[in-house]
Amino acid sequence: MGLSGNAVVAGVMGWPVGHSLSPRLHGFWLARYGIDGAYVPLPVAPDNVAQAIAALPKLGFAGANVTVPHKQAALEAVDRVDGTAGRIGAVNTIIVEADGTLSGGNTDGYGFMENLAAGAEDWRADAGPAVVLGAGGAARAIVVALLDAGAPEVRVVNRTVSKAEGLAADIGGAIRAAPLTEAAAALADAGLLVNTTTLGMQGHGELDIDLTPLPPAALVTDIVYTPLRTDLLNAAAARGNATVDGLGMLLHQARPGFAAWFGREPEVTPELRDHVLAQLEG
Ligand code: ATR
Repeated sequence: MGLSGNAVVAGVMGWPVGHSLSPRLHGFWLARYGIDGAYVPLPVAPDNVAQAIAALPKLGFAGANVTVPHKQAALEAVDRVDGTAGRIGAVNTIIVEADGTLSGGNTDGYGFMENLAAGAEDWRADAGPAVVLGAGGAARAIVVALLDAGAPEVRVVNRTVSKAEGLAADIGGAIRAAPLTEAAAALADAGLLVNTTTLGMQGHGELDIDLTPLPPAALVTDIVYTPLRTDLLNAAAARGNATVDGLGMLLHQARPGFAAWFGREPEVTPELRDHVLAQLEG
C-alpha cells in the first residue's frame, strides 16, 4: 500500500548500511500486515551518529535499529538504557517515547534464544555448559542471554584470550575464558556450541575445530548465515548433533522493535525467511 501523511517511520542506522537485510525484513511485515509505515536504511557516518540519533524525535521517527559500528555509541546517545543493553554494553533498538525521549534496548540475545526455541524445541539452556566461540559484540549479547536463561556455565573461547577475560569481567557470573587452542577441552560435557566469530563466513577464514569431544546431544548453532549451512553446521550434523542456522537470530531480533514502532507483533514465518534469503542470494 502507499504511504499516507500519517505513516509511521523507522529505520536502521549503520555505516555502511547497504548490506543490511533489515529494510527487506521489516518491509515484508509492513506489507503483510497492511501497515501505513516505512522502514528505511539510514547511512550514518560514525562522526554523525550522536546527532543522527538525537534527530530521530525531531524528524518524527518512531525509532530505529542501530547496527555496526554504532551499537556502542547508541548506548551513550539515548536517554535511558534497559538492563540487558547495559550489561551487553550495546544498543540495537531505539524507541522514541511519547515525550520525545529515547529508550535503548538490545534484542540480539533475545533473537538468539528465540531462534533456538523455534529451531530446537527440546534444547534447554540449563541442561549443560555452553561454549561460545568468539568474544566480540555478538558474543556479549549471547553470553548474557544464556546466563539469563539458566546456563550453568558459559565457556568463552577466543583467539585473543584477554578479550574473553574482559568479557567475563564486564558481564560477571559463571563465565570461563579460554584460548581457541583449548576449544576441544571446552567441548567436553557441553550442551551447546555457538560460533560468534566471522570464521566460516564467505570470504573469511575457515573455522578449524575438532568436534570429537562434543556430546552427541549438544546443539550446535552459528550466527554466520552466509552461507546458511556453514562448514561447522555441516560437520555437526554429519556426526549427529542437532543444528540451527543463524538467519533466524536476525529475524527474531527484529520483532520487539517492529512491535513497539508499528503496534503489531510480527511473526517469523517460512515466507519471511524465503523473502530475506532472496536478497542474500540475489
Ligand atoms: P562482532 O562484534 O560482530 O561479534 P568482532 O568484534 O569483530 O565482531 O568479533 C569477531 C570475533 O571473531 C572475535 O572474537 C575474533 O577474535 P579476536 O578477538 O581474537 O580478534 C574472531 N575472529 C575473527 N577472525 C578470526 C580468526 N582468523 N581466527 C580466530 N578468531 C577470529
